[in-house]
Amino acid sequence: MKPTIALTKGRLEKQFIAFLESIDFDVEPLVNKGRKLRVETDTLQFIFAKGPDVTTYVEHGIADLGIVGGDILAEFQPDVYNLFPLPFGHCRMAVATEQGQVWSNQKKKIASKYTGITKEFFKDKGESVDIIKLEGSVELAPILGLADAIVDIVETGTTLKENGLVIKEEFFSFSARCIANRSSLKIKRAELTPIIDIFQKQGGNL
Ligand code: PRP
Repeated sequence: MKPTIALTKGRLEKQFIAFLESIDFDVEPLVNKGRKLRVETDTLQFIFAKGPDVTTYVEHGIADLGIVGGDILAEFQPDVYNLFPLPFGHCRMAVATEQGQVWSNQKKKIASKYTGITKEFFKDKGESVDIIKLEGSVELAPILGLADAIVDIVETGTTLKENGLVIKEEFFSFSARCIANRSSLKIKRAELTPIIDIFQKQGGNL
């Protein structure tokens, strides 16, 4: 059985493929996969999933390694080896509001996909807030009056800017990370070590 790597679909997938290309890996099967969610190369199997599901596949040992954002690890705290950071997917976690919003002392409503991170953040500040869970496009919430602010990841800042939101506070910086299934690392050490070494070494150089 070839080692299996679970990749987070979307932005991280593109950045990971660019990273593989930079270390002379033949990325053709990944680039031209169409809508396939599983791709095999001569030496590896790749599966494509949403971030939280990448951690699930790795936790259950279906995937040996995973490429996932530090935000997902902080939010879901899966039982995996959190091996090392990768040189892409750099983001910040931020509280954002509408431009010109007056930050009153009243109990605030905070919309987020990251309810765990949001809860911890405001608990650490000693502030009681109502958290509203959304699945995406959270920037809509302050604009439409669903919430006073959002807690979300910011990469380029374009989404905030184009929706008239500004950062009120940044509190956590992270990048993509390589994670591993706990048993795989022992049982498949011989197959996984060269892959991990390349990712780690090249990652450090970029
Ligand atoms: C993420 C995040 C922001 C956006 C930030 O959303 O939730 O909306 O990216 O990126 P930027 O600072 O480069 O504009 P994603 O694209 O993952 O989609 P989603 O809103 O459906 O979760």
